[in-house]
Amino acid sequence: MPRKIIIDTDPGQDDAVAILLALASPELEVLALTAVAGNVPLALTQRNARQIVELAGRQTPVHAGCDAPMKRKLVTAEYVHGKTGLDGIPLPEPTLPLHPQHAVDAIIEALRAHPPGTITLCPLGPLTNIATAFRRAPDIIPRVAEIVLMGGAYFEVGNVTPAAEFNIYVDPEAAEIVFKSGVPLVVMPLDVTHKALTSREWVEEMRALGTPVGQAVASWTDFFERFDTAKYGSAGAPLHDPCVIAYLLEPALFTGRHVNVEIETVSELTLGMTVADWWRVTDREPNAMFMGSVDRDGFYRLLTERLGRL
Ligand code: BDR
Ligand code: CA
Repeated sequence: MPRKIIIDTDPGQDDAVAILLALASPELEVLALTAVAGNVPLALTQRNARQIVELAGRQTPVHAGCDAPMKRKLVTAEYVHGKTGLDGIPLPEPTLPLHPQHAVDAIIEALRAHPPGTITLCPLGPLTNIATAFRRAPDIIPRVAEIVLMGGAYFEVGNVTPAAEFNIYVDPEAAEIVFKSGVPLVVMPLDVTHKALTSREWVEEMRALGTPVGQAVASWTDFFERFDTAKYGSAGAPLHDPCVIAYLLEPALFTGRHVNVEIETVSELTLGMTVADWWRVTDREPNAMFMGSVDRDGFYRLLTERLGRL
């Protein structure tokens, strides 16, 4: 039986690769994509999500969710992802209609309709939709099997402020609700994703697939690599969000520690920091499997094999 997942997302080229990886994998049943404001405003993230589903030749429902963080003004990242959020080769206007149900209602309804412990949530953007669903319908919290998310940073420090990673920084109040929810969490922070760097050979392998998916992935990587290689001085760029889906498919690619992670919501200086008790120096209860490393070559092998199926 495939594992049922809901991907909550703000595409984003790396979100797009994560979604394609999930749609290509028979071990996973993607019940829905729920779009949230993040890398770009909601009107674009929901549209991009529909383009990605169509690129994969699927009909997966796409729901639009929250258009702003719970308590703050939206911060976006066009400087990384481009004006559309999915800059690269132009994709056709999507014909797949947006599902009329709000993403938060879709999450609540799915968790109530399926047996407890059978749906895994995969957030790839700010945690606004998930936290809003938990606030509105606390009965769904114990029904979630697991949350596997991309967000946070500890040893690798921040990418949007010196202390914070983008997804957590955009909506720290939402992140706090999720991290305190009691749902088993697996966290893919920058500590992992900055080890999952693209290479020229891999981009060329994607292009050589000779498929619309291969062309799109190569063009997206070319686009965001320019920004990342200049910023970090690295040879490639981190493919953040696909780490979440890769973990579901091959957990042994990742190693980490089960520790306490709290979210900073007060200090202006360190707002959105994921304070991970890596050395277990407090008696705070562990609440998250906080990953620290990835088998980079294994990760890219998996991506190549799966994306080649689409
Ligand atoms: C995260 O922020 C976004 O720009 C990416 O899609 C990823 O989810 C990395 O900090
Ligand atoms: Ca994302």
